[in-house]
Amino acid sequence: MKTQVAIVGGGPAGLLLSRLLHLNGVDNVVLERRSRDYVLGRIRAGVLEQGLVDLLHEADVAERLKAEGEVHAGFNIAFHDDVCHIDLAQLTDGKNVTVYGQTEVTRDLYEALDTAGATVIHDAENLALHDIDTDSPKVTFDQNGQEQIISAAFIAGCDGFHGPSRQAIPNSVRQEYELTYPFGWLGVLSETPPVAEELMYASHESGFALCSLRSRQLSRYYVQCPVDDSVADWSDDRFWDELKSRLPTEVANSLVTGPSIEKSIAPLRSFVAEPMSWNRLFLAGDSAHIVPPTGAKGLNLAASDVYYLSRAFVDYFNRDVESPLRDYSKTALARVWKAERFSWWMTRLLHLFPDQNKFEQRLQAAEFNYLLNSEAAKLALAENYVGLEY
Ligand code: APR
Ligand code: PHB
Repeated sequence: MKTQVAIVGGGPAGLLLSRLLHLNGVDNVVLERRSRDYVLGRIRAGVLEQGLVDLLHEADVAERLKAEGEVHAGFNIAFHDDVCHIDLAQLTDGKNVTVYGQTEVTRDLYEALDTAGATVIHDAENLALHDIDTDSPKVTFDQNGQEQIISAAFIAGCDGFHGPSRQAIPNSVRQEYELTYPFGWLGVLSETPPVAEELMYASHESGFALCSLRSRQLSRYYVQCPVDDSVADWSDDRFWDELKSRLPTEVANSLVTGPSIEKSIAPLRSFVAEPMSWNRLFLAGDSAHIVPPTGAKGLNLAASDVYYLSRAFVDYFNRDVESPLRDYSKTALARVWKAERFSWWMTRLLHLFPDQNKFEQRLQAAEFNYLLNSEAAKLALAENYVGLEY
């Protein structure tokens, strides 16, 4: 099989790239290791920056988002018993975020690709990249026991943190930067009405908590937990009790609890691999970088990578202009590192770090008090939360 761009990974980054390339006449194939049901069964974040919303409209996959997404013009940060409201719209001249599950974004993209007759190959096993330092790179994989070979002009590595693409960049070329956090997030999905109209991030002496939502009938909650905890350690009752204990009293008293319909624990890490391209391989999304979910930047960074990369491929194939492809890594990393900084800053502000000394505890309190009393501090948080310009 031959194509112009072989896209490894059928998550949000790979699917959005495929859709945008198709709409611009650039031939591509998506190769996904898992089944579609498996991909759509993953529960992920749900806060979309305006840049991603605009890109989904450009990709003509925003009908359901428009109908079901909830536009949020602000959110709250509780620090022990104080609550700081961040009025995103007022601080950023009308910008906001839209609450809409990543699973739904992925579903909308799959449906659009199917309707357009795009080639999305599932259950692609033992995938490997070859000859990425030549002008005819290849991808091999097994499907139903048969080895398949796809030759392409370029390979887009959209295969997430655990995929093979990043490793295809030689160790002598690749630099990795990483921070791991000494805790995880236990997430619960419940068919209960959200505790509040807006999201609430809560920092408490027993740990972090987050109240989010997917709709008026579907809530998403998180509590910080020890990094080596397992879901089996957390009954629903224990989860709800711990969540309530970390929220301001009046919020805890209005929490509607119910059976969890999904429960999972995710580790937190900050990670960046440089460069994000090497010869004919280009990385986008989690294959190149990971952020702690505190700032809700994971999906939104995949979007800005795809914005830059899709335009660079279109310039190359349709206009014979190579410079955006050459500049892709530098352009994408500039925005990646600012989102890494913001996600790290918000994680440091809101979580209980087990090895934190008393001085650092006072610094956390001072950071929150500065935020509570400074419009400049609120603006800095707000402009990062709604998303910096692409
Ligand atoms: N071959 C083919 N596909 C692979 C392989 C492989 N060897 N390894 C991984 N994949 C697939 C995964 O099954 C997954 O569907 O690549 C896809 C990568 O998708 P994501 O991990 O969702 O990454 P990305 O598309 O960059 O989206 C980033 O997803 O995980 C969240 O928090 C993250 O919100 C962020 C968003
Ligand atoms: C979510 O709704 O899953 C969510 C919201 C905000 C975050 C992280 C996750 O910062």
